[in-house]
Amino acid sequence: MIALDPILKKAYWSLASLGGIYAVFIIALLNPWIQHHALYAHKIHSGFWHDLNQPESFGFARNQITPFNLSTPDGETLYCWHILPIDAYAAHEREITRAPGGPADNFTTTVGYKLLKEDPESRIVINFHGNAGHLAQGWRTSTYSALASLPHTHTLACDYRGFGFSTGRPSEPGILTDSIALTHYALTSLAQPASRTVLLGQSLGTSVAAGVALHFSSPSTLELPFSVTRPAETLPPQSFAGIVLIASFPSLPELLTSYRIRGVLPILAPLRPYPRIGKYVEKWIVDTWPTAARLTALVAAAKEEKLGLRLSVLHARDDPDINWKLGEKVFEALEKEMLRGGQVAQTEERRSVIGVDRVSRGAFVYRAVEDVVVGGADEEGAGGRGRFVELEIVRYGGHNRVVTYTPVMLAVKRAFASV
Ligand SMILES: *[C@@H]1O[C@H](CO)[C@@H](O)[C@H](O)[C@H]1NC(C)=O
Ligand SMILES: *[C@@H]1O[C@H](CO)[C@@H](O)[C@H](O)[C@H]1NC(C)=O
Repeated sequence: MIALDPILKKAYWSLASLGGIYAVFIIALLNPWIQHHALYAHKIHSGFWHDLNQPESFGFARNQITPFNLSTPDGETLYCWHILPIDAYAAHEREITRAPGGPADNFTTTVGYKLLKEDPESRIVINFHGNAGHLAQGWRTSTYSALASLPHTHTLACDYRGFGFSTGRPSEPGILTDSIALTHYALTSLAQPASRTVLLGQSLGTSVAAGVALHFSSPSTLELPFSVTRPAETLPPQSFAGIVLIASFPSLPELLTSYRIRGVLPILAPLRPYPRIGKYVEKWIVDTWPTAARLTALVAAAKEEKLGLRLSVLHARDDPDINWKLGEKVFEALEKEMLRGGQVAQTEERRSVIGVDRVSRGAFVYRAVEDVVVGGADEEGAGGRGRFVELEIVRYGGHNRVVTYTPVMLAVKRAFASV
């Protein structure tokens, strides 16, 4: 053997050991238990020093938030929050502050519910959070505050099974069961019409919102896992005021080949030069969360059922975790489905490298595709609304904070105004 220069030798062994550590990491991830913990990161949270039952510690007014438990049809208990909008709070402050407050056994016996029901214009945003932490983690509470400042806008948010105070362990069918149960609860027990309900999801929550929207537009769809436990009662196909997705991605395997933890540590990207190993590892991904396929099925179902549909795909250009190009890929899959038959209008605006072309919205990229509704109202369901899908790439906000920013609140507001 040729004697290697000691420095080269050192470099060789450092590289070899890095490769070895990476191989151990990937092999460990093939284990479903480790994979679920790595994907959902539900055990990583600040619950140890934050009291979720004291929403005032997150900046909310006394009793503005009602924590309550929600049962799923397969026997789990979810920990949820109802957040009152500031306008309703200001109008009923005395009544609200005098209520007993604290966690409720049954939300429909609380003042929060009463105010939701009393207001004929009340709207609900159902918030689906991303992985890791609990419903009050990080920027999530700022999202609720921003939503609460919209008029008549109540927010519902639950921790998925295994997250925060919710029972059970997370999995794709489990999280979909939980989120369908929450939405079903809003539509039935709270008797909130879908036309005054927006589904809002961020990161992993975009995949959740996509699955929920598909279930309610097409209850017999084959695109959801068979092991999802659905509510006993099946509702007719529903049309939500809007579905707003922030930092979405076409599917989990597609995301993992580019995902970087905190924008730094790559997961499957190092396998890109080895497509065969990459393909092998991808096959072991238990929960694949095929968002683009489910949203495509949603668009197809909306066409089939003549349901109005409004879908906003937003992404920050400076998102370090999920590249905005993945959000654009989701949009492109939907655009393709919209272009299949039917008369549609397309918009595409893109800021050029030299920055002279102005983009009316999104600051960076704005694209939209919508049905040309002939004959106006009554032609289509949901008060004459056709199908509308848009993409907005905003400049700032990163991966998490972007949900609290005005472009998201505007997307929610436009969705409610579109009905
Ligand atoms: C909610 O459910 C949890 C877990 O099952 C339980 O510990 C808690 O006491 C329940 N809270 C209320 C208010 O019923
Ligand atoms: C909650 O209260 C409402 C109204 O009092 C009642 O109809 C409903 O069955 C209760 N739900 C549960 C889970 O106890």
